[in-house]
Amino acid sequence: MSTREKVADCIRSMDSAMLILPMDISRIVLMARSHDTNAVELARFLSDHRSLSDRVLKIAKSPCYGSSGDIDSMSSAIIHIGFHEIVAIALGSGVFTMLASAGKSSGIEQDRIWKHAIGVSLAMKLAAKNARTPVDGFSMLTGLLHDIGKLVFHLCLPREYHEVLQHHQAEAVSLHSAERQLLGIDHGEAAYRLLMRWNLPDSVCMPVRYHHNLIQCPFEHLHQTMILHLADYLALRAGIGYSGNIIPEISTEVITAMGLSKTRVDELTEQVKTMRDQVEDFLEALS
Ligand SMILES: [Fe+2]
Ligand SMILES: [Fe+2]
Repeated sequence: MSTREKVADCIRSMDSAMLILPMDISRIVLMARSHDTNAVELARFLSDHRSLSDRVLKIAKSPCYGSSGDIDSMSSAIIHIGFHEIVAIALGSGVFTMLASAGKSSGIEQDRIWKHAIGVSLAMKLAAKNARTPVDGFSMLTGLLHDIGKLVFHLCLPREYHEVLQHHQAEAVSLHSAERQLLGIDHGEAAYRLLMRWNLPDSVCMPVRYHHNLIQCPFEHLHQTMILHLADYLALRAGIGYSGNIIPEISTEVITAMGLSKTRVDELTEQVKTMRDQVEDFLEALS
């Protein structure tokens, strides 16, 4: 069996217990996908799941959102922060908790990986603003989960992925190229397979799948994928967390399509650097 098939098999069979989404989190995915779910139902559901709602409220009240004084319940958190953002926080928090113990036992430096993921989430708002487009409702979730394929590799193929990381550093090739060379699949595609399995919407799964492979991205998902690609680059360049990637790369097509200059990219990087405290607060609340 090839390594590509092994990853697919691991996800398909969910033989790694860490990859099974808990029931309460699966229920939130269903609520997020349903056009019938309203804020009252979401608030009621979260309030019935105490540890999850405590974490969501902690994040909603954190300085990231700057509205702690106005939030005294799940309903007010949804009003101030928004339905999709609360869904993203709940899902991100659930996935974080689910993978935390697995990461500890396998020696993965999860805090640094999650700091990078949170940094990308926050940078996506900045990137969308720069592109003068409204922020997609699920952009925070997309940012939080964009590199989850690396955790899949760590959990499903720890020895092989260690070799990929060594190859990436020794040969100075991009991490996704090293993954494709040695495993036959990159972390974007591995994440896509998992997120599809978790029943997440295409608006999350597709940008994650193509964030290092824009050339093959279907047109309807290209814009959001470019926003993710830029945010990923900005967080890496700003040194927010660590994703295992030591070579930040940005596509020239993205630079052109988004009308960016080198000076503008430098300015955006400086703005992302100022988000460090927000990232720390977010991670602290998530933990
Ligand atoms: Fe990535
Ligand atoms: Fe990343």
